Amino acid sequence: TESSSLAGKTVLITAGPTYEAIDPVRFIGNHSSGKMGFALAEAAAERGANVILVSGPTNLHPVHENIKIERITSAREMLEVTSKYFDEANIFIASAAVADYAPKDVASEKIKKNDDSLTIELVKNPDILKTLGEQKSHQFIVGFALETQNEEANARQKLTKKNLDMIVLNSLREEGAGFGGDTNRIKIITKTEETDFPIRTKNEVAKDILDAIETRLSNNQTN
Ligand code: PMT
Repeated sequence: TESSSLAGKTVLITAGPTYEAIDPVRFIGNHSSGKMGFALAEAAAERGANVILVSGPTNLHPVHENIKIERITSAREMLEVTSKYFDEANIFIASAAVADYAPKDVASEKIKKNDDSLTIELVKNPDILKTLGEQKSHQFIVGFALETQNEEANARQKLTKKNLDMIVLNSLREEGAGFGGDTNRIKIITKTEETDFPIRTKNEVAKDILDAIETRLSNNQTN
C-alpha cells in the first residue's frame, strides 16, 4: 500500500536451494522449494518495494511486476549475482538454503558405476550472508536459521557472526515448518527482542517478517 515505509525501497532476497554439480547429470542439493523467499518477494512488492529475487532452481514464477528475478544454480553463482545488487539494496533478506559444500572437481563426463564405493571430495562454499554482512553499510540485513538442535543459541550465534540486524528462526523439528510445505512457524530474533509467531501460511509469515522489519526501521529513524 501507499503508506508502507517499504515503498520505493530496494529489497534484495535470496530464495530456494542451490545445486552443486557432481557431473553433467548429478548434483548435491536440498529440499528448499523457494516458497518462503517467493512469498517474501510478493509481499514486499505489494508494499511498493522494488524487489530483486535471486533464486536457485525452483518451479515458481514471480507474479508482481516489481519483482526482478535472477535465476542461478550454484552457491558461487548466487554470491556473484547477489553481490552485484548489494550496494543498491536497502534491505537484504537471505531465505535461500545454500549448500555449505560443493564437489571439489566436477567430472566432465557422467561418473560410471564401476566400484562398490565412490568418494566425492567436497570443499566449503562461500557464505553469501556472512560475506555481505561484512560489507554492510546502510543495509538492514535479515538472515534465516534452519536448525535441528540448540535452535535459539545457534540462531543468536548466526545473528552476531554474520553481522545481521534480524534473524528468522524456523525449525526442522517442528511439523508444518521449514522446507517445502505451505506453512511455517517462526521466531524473530534481534539483539534486543525475541518474538514467537503461531504456525501460519508462508504468505502470512512473509507479512509478519516485513512488519517486523518496518517496525525496526522506523524505530531506528526516530532514535
Ligand atoms: O524454500 P522453502 O521450501 O519455502 O523453505 C524455506 C526455508 C526453510 C529454506 C527457509 O525458511 C530457511 O530457513 N532458509 C535458510 C535455510 C538455511 O540454509 O539456513 P542455515 O541456518 O543453514 O543458514 C543461515 C543463513 O545463512 C540463511 O539465511 C542462509 O540463507 C545463509 N547462508 C547459509 C550458507 C551459505 N553458504 N550462504 C548463506 O547465505
